[in-house]
Amino acid sequence: MQIVRNVPDLRAARAALTDGGRARLALVPTMGALHEGHLSLVRAAREAGHVVAASIFVNPTQFGPNEDFTRYPRDPERDCALLAEAGCALAWLPEVSTMYPPGDATSVEVAGLSVVLEGAVRPGHYRGVATVVVKLLGQVRPDAAYFGEKDWQQVQVIRRVAADLFLPVEIVVGPTLREKDGLAMSSRNRYLDPADRARAPLLHQVLHRVRAALRDGEPAAAALAAGRRALAEGGFIVDYLELVDAGTLAPLTAPDDGARLLAAARLGTTRLLDTVAV
Ligand code: PAF
Repeated sequence: MQIVRNVPDLRAARAALTDGGRARLALVPTMGALHEGHLSLVRAAREAGHVVAASIFVNPTQFGPNEDFTRYPRDPERDCALLAEAGCALAWLPEVSTMYPPGDATSVEVAGLSVVLEGAVRPGHYRGVATVVVKLLGQVRPDAAYFGEKDWQQVQVIRRVAADLFLPVEIVVGPTLREKDGLAMSSRNRYLDPADRARAPLLHQVLHRVRAALRDGEPAAAALAAGRRALAEGGFIVDYLELVDAGTLAPLTAPDDGARLLAAARLGTTRLLDTVAV
């Protein structure tokens, strides 16, 4: 696997790996601290016949002032070894000064989708995500980009950007990978102390309970309120637990074909996200 850290090397590596653009290239954008979920995206892209590139960049613009940017886990050597083992051909590790050079003045703002749910709790977060993803896509110019289902709202924001800006890239979503007890894999799970780690699977269990209640015909407001209560009783501080349309993220009062439950809740200082289709 080639590891590149500047744009000219990236361009040269891309040309060589794609045989001058003849082979299809996929990008798996990451912030590092890789887990099986990321690696499953690399494998899925390979199985789809792509040469695979992954980026590792802890993007400062998607973290709020009191968030975990400085303590976000960084271990590029381990990450690169895992990527190579999973069959990744190229690792793109840009510096902050490459992504945001002096004079940088452009950002990507997605109205609507960016300001609800996660966007309401973390103002500016999706501006940072959309901006860095557009930059990464412009640098790597992949035919496809792979993202994890767990960050469902992020995927909808990125799909919107790709459609609105006519970006020539297919956005592919890989399923959430889970620990044996159901906890969705996330780089932030490593922040959990043993007591919170033991509580954490409740988030997934509650999503399943709420889904079952909705499928049994319980009114959404009551099912969601019971879910929020169960999480609070289990030690979580609930940021949101909502039933929404999977594409528009508009709140739903009853499940329909495209309905999804989206949740974010905190255990101590660790925020956990999860989602299930209803
Ligand atoms: O999902 C992530 O890890 C990040 O939000 C992404 C898409 C790599 C952008 O920094």
